[in-house]
Amino acid sequence: MNRRASSIFRRGPRPQVRPHPLDMAEGLEQAGVLDRAIRVISGGVQRALPPGPVKDALHGVPVGHPAHPPLTDLPMGCWMSSAVLDLIPGTERASSALVAAGLAGAVPTALTGLADWSALHREQQRVGLVHAMGTATASVLYGASLVARLRGRYGAGRALGFAGLGALLAGGYLGGHLAFRQAAGANHADQVSHLVPLGWHDLCPIADLPDGWPVRRTLGYISLFVLREDDDVHVLADRCSHLAGPLHQGRITVDDDGDTCVVCPWHGSTFRVADGSVVHGPATGRQPAFETRVSDEGTVQVRPLS
Ligand code: FES
Repeated sequence: MNRRASSIFRRGPRPQVRPHPLDMAEGLEQAGVLDRAIRVISGGVQRALPPGPVKDALHGVPVGHPAHPPLTDLPMGCWMSSAVLDLIPGTERASSALVAAGLAGAVPTALTGLADWSALHREQQRVGLVHAMGTATASVLYGASLVARLRGRYGAGRALGFAGLGALLAGGYLGGHLAFRQAAGANHADQVSHLVPLGWHDLCPIADLPDGWPVRRTLGYISLFVLREDDDVHVLADRCSHLAGPLHQGRITVDDDGDTCVVCPWHGSTFRVADGSVVHGPATGRQPAFETRVSDEGTVQVRPLS
């Protein structure tokens, strides 16, 4: 760049640096200083919540969606409503009742959040830890607010409630970042019904498939998990619906009903290979599955399972 050109650039407007919550949230993704605490807490959660029906219920497997996000509506709704009532004279009892209801709702909300958090990527766990610290601080402040209100000190109760609301909003912002920017809780499986045209598609010769051993094959640009069992061939989307782990690297097992399943190598989600249904979380979304047949020439053909 010559001197004249560089002087033109120097005269241009200087970029303005404005603090933005998104910068802070993205900075937290890289905050390795949190990792030691994450290892300790995550290990404790794994020990306290071993794989099984309780953990599956906390993840939301029975309802097919993560249980934590809708549960957050309960404490957030109650506490925001109490903040509104705190601005209206004569509503102290109703406001105190909402603070108490929010505290009751915070318990299952925290448990479901912990279960989900323990099976996230490290960058997500860093943001999630600070999110949990914000909401835990809010819970403590609302607990103190309730005690003050029960002792008749409504002024202190209101002040503690508004402080709790501030912590709640800060934690809630990070919860939004976790869900919408980092896609925790979203379905990460390929949406094959949108990506694969209708009808049957040639996949590979059946003779190329090892018996009882999962492999990866591709249909266009979609990766597929393929498991041959004698003359049966099971095909699922390869990217795990939890966080896109490679199912073809997973372990093959059998569930209590005798159905063949694959266990994701990343966080242990278990899917039936016949239809992709979830046997164990943390995944809550069914794995997209394919119908299969073998042509007279010995070619495995697939089409999305409707
Ligand atoms: S990516 Fe987490 S269980 Fe598969």
